[in-house]
Amino acid sequence: MLSKVQEIIAKKNHTAEEIIFLTNYEPNDDRNRLYSFYTPICLCEKIYELAIHYGFDPKKGKILEPSCGNGNFLTVFDNPKNVTAFETDSINYQIAKIRSPKSNIYNDYFEKAFLMPPRHTSVIKSGLTWLKDYPFDLVIGNPPYGSRTNIYSSFFKNMKIKQIEAFFMYQSLRLLKPGGLLIFITSSSFLRDQNNTYKNEKKLMSEYAELVDAYRMPKVFKNTSVPTDIIVIKRK
Ligand SMILES: C[S@@+](CC[C@H](N)C(=O)[O-])C[C@H]1O[C@@H](n2cnc3c(N)ncnc32)[C@H](O)[C@@H]1O
Repeated sequence: MLSKVQEIIAKKNHTAEEIIFLTNYEPNDDRNRLYSFYTPICLCEKIYELAIHYGFDPKKGKILEPSCGNGNFLTVFDNPKNVTAFETDSINYQIAKIRSPKSNIYNDYFEKAFLMPPRHTSVIKSGLTWLKDYPFDLVIGNPPYGSRTNIYSSFFKNMKIKQIEAFFMYQSLRLLKPGGLLIFITSSSFLRDQNNTYKNEKKLMSEYAELVDAYRMPKVFKNTSVPTDIIVIKRK
């Protein structure tokens, strides 16, 4: 399966059938399965409509998708040129690039947005990021979930953020304009928070933003039954 995907990716032009094949591809090795639950396109459309309902301007607004997977969200936006995205997995990245060629997609860790270029070996001290479309009007997506750390986690240990999805939320909120929106699908444990796991994280986020809407989802992902919510947060 992987070699067929690579063969199709390597082509210069793609038929409609090949694009559909790439769209349906999900990695099936254990390492990737932990993170790779792709949001069905019909749900990406609904979430994007929600953004517009809460005031996002589909023609002019700047969008960030911080972990775009194979690019499902990217295909529903009105203006792909206004989209910045990150994705660590190179197969996912290449598929996303084929599906949304005009978007600015980095095959890299979202964490790098906050590290000093070109070497990315220290946190940016003056300012927040080197991303040229910063500040954004909308951050949207379905970030990786769990307590796993990665090669860049140590740069951010002062924040004392334990879960990677909370790191994505907090840092994404900081990248928004005042009044900008963050809409994520994430595990229901963030809102339920029965054991106060996210106490510190929620306190940090409350300085920047407030929760304006949320939806508890039925089972929507092919490969997991983890309960999920859509959360809508507005930057103050
Ligand atoms: C739950 S999937 C969701 C993908 C996509 N947002 C969607 O909704 O279909 C999370 C994605 O995050 C990617 N990822 C994991 N850690 C990342 C990081 N530090 N920076 C950027 N992407 C990351 C994974 O490879 C995976 O494709």
